[in-house]
Amino acid sequence: MQKQFVKEVLLESEAGKSLMLEGWVRTKRVSKNVAFITLNDGSTIKNIQIVVDGNSDAFKQMDNIHTGTALRVSGKLVESQGAGQQIELQADDIIVLGDADPDKYPLQPKKHSMEFLREIAHLRFRTNTFNAVFRIRHGLTFGIHKFFNDRGFYNIHTPIITGSDAEGAGAMFRVTTLNLNDIPKTDDGSVDVKQDFFGKETNLTVSGQLEAELAALALSKVYTFGPTFRAENSNTSRHLAEFWMIEPEIAFCDIKCNMDIAEEMLKYLVKYVIDNFPDELEFLRKRLQDEEKNKKQEDRSMDLMEKLQFILENDFARITYTEAFDVLRNSKPNKKKRFEFPVEEWGMDFQSEHERYLVEKYYKKPVIVTDYPKDIKAFYMKQNDDNKTVRGMDVLFPGIGEIIGGSQREEDYDKLLNRIKEMGIPEKDVWWYLETRKFGSVVHSGFGLGFERLVLFVTGMSNIRDVIPFPRTPKNAEF
Ligand code: 4AD
Ligand code: MG
Repeated sequence: MQKQFVKEVLLESEAGKSLMLEGWVRTKRVSKNVAFITLNDGSTIKNIQIVVDGNSDAFKQMDNIHTGTALRVSGKLVESQGAGQQIELQADDIIVLGDADPDKYPLQPKKHSMEFLREIAHLRFRTNTFNAVFRIRHGLTFGIHKFFNDRGFYNIHTPIITGSDAEGAGAMFRVTTLNLNDIPKTDDGSVDVKQDFFGKETNLTVSGQLEAELAALALSKVYTFGPTFRAENSNTSRHLAEFWMIEPEIAFCDIKCNMDIAEEMLKYLVKYVIDNFPDELEFLRKRLQDEEKNKKQEDRSMDLMEKLQFILENDFARITYTEAFDVLRNSKPNKKKRFEFPVEEWGMDFQSEHERYLVEKYYKKPVIVTDYPKDIKAFYMKQNDDNKTVRGMDVLFPGIGEIIGGSQREEDYDKLLNRIKEMGIPEKDVWWYLETRKFGSVVHSGFGLGFERLVLFVTGMSNIRDVIPFPRTPKNAEF
């Protein structure tokens, strides 16, 4: 008999057809004359109902079937008697493929807390919530490649192991094959990195940008989409030690062009999920609504669909750091000392409470902040004539704060070299990067979109640990 997936069966199959399904039991209900099993195979968030007649051979299996059991079911599709589904499978034959002892299987058909599910991340794929989240995560991955491919960008694989910490984006994870119990030392007592695998100090990358720039200065439009690693000790709901980043890099493109691409891309991706994952979004919308019920009115976030429309319907506000700083300094929460980090001195970095105030309370639309003080940004950002600011840009979203960080890049060799020296970056680490400014240098720009922050936003989940299958955070690398 032909094996089918629940998704295609629910979409297009008609009563009368015989077929075979394989999946995992979500619930079962047994009465004297009939039993009902809801089966899910991950092809859709929806379950299919299996009806088992009390007189059939299949009915004798019911004692072995529990939430989590893997089954192969053959039977005939029939019009559904009950409400809520159109079609169900009348079972002729049921084979138990994998038991799930109900006394030991940790997932039961009831609400489990996100914290509990994180501890059983190997099984949480089997819940509706994670089913929906990871299908959308896949959809966003696909949408990102489609967006860039359709616009003539080339995907570049940048290295994961790097020999430089030029970005300065955060503490790095060391990569070494040296015996940590017997580290070779030089005469002056420092680690003899010449004996290490690469013959130099190496780390996991914090960003693929610098290498992407090299490619952009030949292929014009490129993007990387890879894992990045930051050893910051930030235990927040928006930080991971291992996360994925999308980094486009575009030659002959200034900061205005960079902002246009960022805004177009974010709108495209939100629309892509609305168009392709309506069932998942509806499920997640209700989930969020339930979660928000326990919160005070003023702490409640927007409805999920409203939040997504908020991105699609608004032109993003585009303001400079200095404008944003003035808004924040004169704001009510600042005057009433309600910010944890008071806004006092020009030059300070904004915290997520400030970013969210700008988006949610003041501009009431997504915000792009540009022209940041140079001292809080990376060495490669294009320097403005005021000698104080650089042409950086951060895109801020409701509930999230910074979702994208990027800039126009400094294309002038002398200015770049000066900044590198000022910031104490060893020239020997970035000689190759500098060389691109010697040969055919052009105006170029790019940005980094934090993939999990995007998934977090689109799914309405509240913790970044719940939008990546196996989160890596301080003191946590299980699975
Ligand atoms: O602002 P960041 O540090 O920018 C860069 O790394 C640049 N090299 C990007 C570029 O211009 N090509 O990081 C970019 C984005 C942030 O806006 C945020 O969304 C995300 O990456 N991000 C994190 N996401 C999860 N966990 C963390 N620890 C993150 N740190 C940054
Ligand atoms: Mg940033």
